[in-house]
Amino acid sequence: MRTGAGAVHPLRPGAVTIGREIRPIAYPRGEVRASDFRVAEVEVGKPRPGEVLVRNTWTSVDAALRLRLREKAPPGYFPAFPLDEPMDGIMTVGEVVESRADGFAPGDTVWHASGWRDYAVVDAESRALGGVGTLTKLDVHIAPPQAHLGVLGSGGLTAYAGLFHVADLRDGDVVWVSAAAGAVGSLVAQMAKIRGHRVIGSAGSDEKVRYLLEELGLDAAFNYKCGALPDLLREAAPGGIDVYFDNVGGDHLQAALGALRRSGRIAICGMISEYGTEEPPHGPTNLMLAVTKGLTIRGFRGSDHTHLLPEMRRQMGAWVREGRLHYRETIVDGLTQAPAALAALLRGDNTGKTLVRIDGAPHRENADG
Ligand SMILES: NC(=O)c1ccc[n+]([C@@H]2O[C@H](COP(=O)([O-])OP(=O)(O)OC[C@H]3O[C@@H](n4cnc5c(N)ncnc54)[C@H](OP(=O)(O)O)[C@@H]3O)[C@@H](O)[C@H]2O)c1
Repeated sequence: MRTGAGAVHPLRPGAVTIGREIRPIAYPRGEVRASDFRVAEVEVGKPRPGEVLVRNTWTSVDAALRLRLREKAPPGYFPAFPLDEPMDGIMTVGEVVESRADGFAPGDTVWHASGWRDYAVVDAESRALGGVGTLTKLDVHIAPPQAHLGVLGSGGLTAYAGLFHVADLRDGDVVWVSAAAGAVGSLVAQMAKIRGHRVIGSAGSDEKVRYLLEELGLDAAFNYKCGALPDLLREAAPGGIDVYFDNVGGDHLQAALGALRRSGRIAICGMISEYGTEEPPHGPTNLMLAVTKGLTIRGFRGSDHTHLLPEMRRQMGAWVREGRLHYRETIVDGLTQAPAALAALLRGDNTGKTLVRIDGAPHRENADG
């Protein structure tokens, strides 16, 4: 990644502050590389009426960013990131430095969607990321700021809405969660356990499988790289499954269609196995099983369920406090490391929520400040 000189510092009245933004400069072909991005240094603006200046402290790294690092994002999804522009629409937490909007004051911890940069001037009223990323004051007494980007944030909402409102969970259901050691998957798997279900998780390493069994307490787990998926799934769920929470698509979706029992349900949350491919993916060849078994297949986005945010925070916050819901974080230090953190997530190097901690950046103020 091309970098400029350093940046960032606490704002001094009258001084011109320079902040950094990560900008894509080329759409990745296959793997995401640091050279697809540059660090731009920009003058930090002043908030106008209705706006708030935020110093960002944590920014999110999400699998689905890969879908926007291309000429065209999938129809119906958030737009592609324009080249050499700041990346709008990434969940971020920070501290208010200056406010000209009602309800926000310096020192408040907030979330918003102007991520992968040191500072953001945010319009308090504008809806971002389908409403989930609109500027919001956070209660940091219930959880540390960065937890609002994971378990109590949009990932938590996606897991909660997907499992309880999309998958139509029923008593006695056997549930399979793919990418179960990741940010969304680890929450889904644990919540299904809390509700008393038999839960099977899959992940891409033996270490993650141990994490699923020993720390998250799943009933069965397997490394999908260690055999044919239908066989691994049959071994973990000899009687079949009733719900498949899909984070992966491709061969995982195909295996789920084969293993689902009559009236089973698939909640399609994402299809990470297809995000970096240049070729159009092959659809499952056994989709006819949806007819013969009377299956329900429903795709969804967390941002379609923002009305569940208060309920989700209350319920999941209680489970975290009671020690029933655990979350891990893969923390990467330094804003400039955000592209590398995304590449690592797509490779499967992360466990739980991937976050970039922004503080600790070098300071610089323009000489004319
Ligand atoms: N619908 C929504 O609103 C919404 C919101 C958030 C996320 N999502 C989706 O949820 C899924 C998880 O996202 P996340 O942000 O929580 O990421 P994550 O699960 O924390 O990280 C992604 C994981 O996917 C696994 N993976 C990567 N390539 C794979 C492949 N070819 N086959 C199988 N597994 C693969 C890797 O784990 P392994 O080591 O196990 O391979 C990796 O750790 C993604 O599909 C994402 O698009 C959807």
